[in-house]
Amino acid sequence: MTDPQIVLTERVQQALAHAFGSEYADADPLIRPSQFADFQANVALSLAKRLRRAPREVAEAIRTELSGFPGTVEVSGPGFLNITLDDSWIESEAARMLDDPRAGVGFATPPQTVVVDYSAPNAAKEMHVGHLRTTIVGDSLARLHEHLGNTVVRQNHLGDWGTPFGMLIEHLLDIGEEAAVAQLEAGMGTEYYQAARSQFDGGEEFKVRSRKRVTMLQSGDPETLRLWHVFMDATITYFNKVYGILGVTLTDADIAGESMYNPLLEKTCRDLEAAGVAVLSEGALCVFPPGFTGSDDKPLPLIIRKSDGGYGYASTDMAAIRYRVEDLKSDRMLYVVGADQALHFRMVFAAAELAGWLPDTVSAEHVQIGMMLGKDGRRFKTRSGESIKLMDLLQEAVDRAAAAIADRGYDDATRAEIAQAVGIGAVKYADLAVSHDSEYVFDYDRMLGFNGNTGPYMQYATARIRSIFRRAGVAPADASDRIVLGHPAERALALHLLGFGGLVEQVTTLSEPHRLCAFLFETASLFSTFYEECPVAKDGVDAETKAHRLALCALTLRVLETGLDLLGVPVPERM
Ligand code: ARG
Repeated sequence: MTDPQIVLTERVQQALAHAFGSEYADADPLIRPSQFADFQANVALSLAKRLRRAPREVAEAIRTELSGFPGTVEVSGPGFLNITLDDSWIESEAARMLDDPRAGVGFATPPQTVVVDYSAPNAAKEMHVGHLRTTIVGDSLARLHEHLGNTVVRQNHLGDWGTPFGMLIEHLLDIGEEAAVAQLEAGMGTEYYQAARSQFDGGEEFKVRSRKRVTMLQSGDPETLRLWHVFMDATITYFNKVYGILGVTLTDADIAGESMYNPLLEKTCRDLEAAGVAVLSEGALCVFPPGFTGSDDKPLPLIIRKSDGGYGYASTDMAAIRYRVEDLKSDRMLYVVGADQALHFRMVFAAAELAGWLPDTVSAEHVQIGMMLGKDGRRFKTRSGESIKLMDLLQEAVDRAAAAIADRGYDDATRAEIAQAVGIGAVKYADLAVSHDSEYVFDYDRMLGFNGNTGPYMQYATARIRSIFRRAGVAPADASDRIVLGHPAERALALHLLGFGGLVEQVTTLSEPHRLCAFLFETASLFSTFYEECPVAKDGVDAETKAHRLALCALTLRVLETGLDLLGVPVPERM
């Protein structure tokens, strides 16, 4: 492990154990980057009380223990440890990282099975902008876990079942299969739904047919199921188009929609009732997990079977959580879903615990996705008040990217390719760069900006390093493996890059891709400074300096490319 913060943590912990006894071996040394040195450790202040000694004295004792350490350690102020690493250590660790195809990123030990529930659009309506963020954030989390060697099970919990399917199938019969399929494959799901809805609201005959159709669907009538498949296949074809454009890793094999759990719901309810976890309340079967009360102070029910005998969203999630623990054998489950469903998931997790379906060894986490807002600060909509089609939104980003690079002299095909990567990359990066639970304003101008913490800026930084290699006539893979730090800007960049492995682990543990964006942004900024102050391949730079500066460029490029790949942000070769 090359990450200085992790190396230092271990070294200081050894020092603590030596100086004060093994019971201090796992105290947190509280190591943070510092403006006075490379790092500062504040552990002496936090331990002084427990040790009944003055903080400065504690700090001195730690300093003495760190004598063989490749750097200088100073005690300052009330008892801070200021730690500055030797250049030679940074150089050799950076060279080691350059040699490592994983750029210092380790493997999870032991590897876990991680279920990532994400995207999950509803088939009865068009996939909309709200599903964009869960798709993008969830995909990044899946990539991160996979990269660390965990077994990832993607679960696309499609809304593909329930009462609306009665009217959707009847509408399909009315307009004809072929027309319906064409409409759905083209992404006109919302229009299709609205047409079915107005039929339903407008006529008794259609309403009666629709209700009958729901019953037939639920009882497994073969022809009804065939029609349902026709509807779903066309819908999924469209979802896959969107996934393809976004470059997300979801495939048909990851589809585990609500319909999949339908055969399990009766048993789910029966088992919960038999265990005394669910009780009948006003005809509905409910779980009342302790600690949940409504505005009237009455216990809040999680309804798992409605009083009319029907099942709902919560029934399905109870069956799903059991399946994910018992059949998929997950160690960790991430539900990447809108923040507005926080109460639902807290209740589902609590109910599953009551039922003994969620043992302590398995964690269930709701990765809350904040709402996307329009510039007016309200839920993102078109001017006529409808939700915006994902395809249109993505196309507009690509069109704007094409306009932004129109004057760069590319031929049409190259320009289209770059515009695709820049437009899609901008949308994805914007979704990832703010913490997943915060709301944010969807703003093309900002996300497509070539400055600041944006996708295009990160892509540009990467393309720029590639062009440095092209001009130098060297391939990044053939760069020297020696890194020499002559200039402060080189040192700052190299020291920062060493933190990559530890950061990727932290981002994965916390489910916070925005921290990876921040790290990459800092990388690009430090690279800019380095490149301004340290000419690489200009006239007058001697061969040796050129070689080790190119090595630093190669390491930066590897970190940026690995990081952007973990985010799922495409990187055009040139820009
Ligand atoms: N289809 C749901 C929606 O659009 C999201 C499903 C999330 N996953 C789950 N297991 N409930 O709101």
